Amino acid sequence: MRFSRRLGSDTGQNALSALLERLAADGETILNLSDSNPTRCGLSPGGVLEALSDPACLRYRPDPRGLESARLALAGRFGGDAGSYFLSASTSEAYSWVFKLLCDPGDSLLVPKPGYPLFDSLAGLEAVRAVPYRLEYSHPGGWAIDMDDLAAAAEASGAKAVVVINPNNPTGSYASRAERSAIVDTCAERGMAVIADEVFYPYAIEAGDSRSRFGGEDGCLTFSLDGLSKLLCLPQMKLGWMRVSGPRGEADEAGSRLEHIADTYLSAGAPAMNALPALLGKADALVASVRERLSANLASARSVFGGDGSPYRVLRCDGGWTALLEYPRYDSEERTALGLLREELVAVQPGYFFDMERDGYLALSLILDPVVFAEAARRVRRYIDALSLVRTAHRVVS
Ligand SMILES: Cc1ncc(COP(=O)(O)O)c(C=O)c1O
Repeated sequence: MRFSRRLGSDTGQNALSALLERLAADGETILNLSDSNPTRCGLSPGGVLEALSDPACLRYRPDPRGLESARLALAGRFGGDAGSYFLSASTSEAYSWVFKLLCDPGDSLLVPKPGYPLFDSLAGLEAVRAVPYRLEYSHPGGWAIDMDDLAAAAEASGAKAVVVINPNNPTGSYASRAERSAIVDTCAERGMAVIADEVFYPYAIEAGDSRSRFGGEDGCLTFSLDGLSKLLCLPQMKLGWMRVSGPRGEADEAGSRLEHIADTYLSAGAPAMNALPALLGKADALVASVRERLSANLASARSVFGGDGSPYRVLRCDGGWTALLEYPRYDSEERTALGLLREELVAVQPGYFFDMERDGYLALSLILDPVVFAEAARRVRRYIDALSLVRTAHRVVS
């Protein structure tokens, strides 16, 4: 075979994106409840172009860790010292650097399930295995990490690291303080690292106060990942960062090895790094306005899908940009999502995209304009309610 196995054999388009593309080509207006691109949803901070107009943006001063002024600004906001930060072109790229740092081909990493579908790709491209650990839902308490499953998966796979998404996408669940210390203890005992993706951390919605960042953790080797794509709704700026922490010797060695990897690519762009201090100054105001929108859309989903005896349930959503809707399963998730797109012109991601344990969930993006979100949610309810009528009619006839 000419090509490597890193990509797997299935590189084609799924039925849902093929239909979406066809309808868009036919000129249909689609309400996209799966849109997670903030630049299409009217979310962005003001003053971005001004921040990019400094002539310093034109200077090239390569540094494997990234421009020092940018790292000082990160240390000022998130703690630690400038030397513990690495700038990359995105959070996804930072993952690939950490995977290269920790893993040889064939090694394993533990990843949350349900979780963000990008991991299989990111792991596959580095020739490593993503081994799932379970999250369990109980209503209305919310999601919890199945620590027994995590420990068993670590034992069976000999994983090099545990990936924690804090809060997780699409479950919206933060690692509680107790979960955080159990994970750190397990990692310290087994010589594993924590890779904590904290891109959605500031976007708390229904979270209580039992949440904390992994960034700066010193109980075990820890890589905390973040970036402009969520913190400032600027994915097009292509700037991510990670903070390395842990027991002194280990963190120092990880830092100097990462420096070698980062120096090979030198991928963060000078304009974005230069603008970072000014952009970080806009983060609090932007996060506050995005949180307002997330809360408004979650409330709207609860109102559309609620009501006495409703067969729908919007799961508890502590934070992040996605809510999970549990709906009555008159049809499979795939056929429901295809039907919604064909008949109601609403695009929505089925739960199986995120490896939910069973069928019957849809993931709703909470960053849409609230008017569009409410209309799309009403159409979802209308379509699934109509399926229930068809089923009842079938029962009456037969
Ligand atoms: C949990 C999580 N981490 C990382 C990313 C990607 O971030 P970046 O654009 O910085 O690669 C996403 C994108 O949706 C995400 O959901």
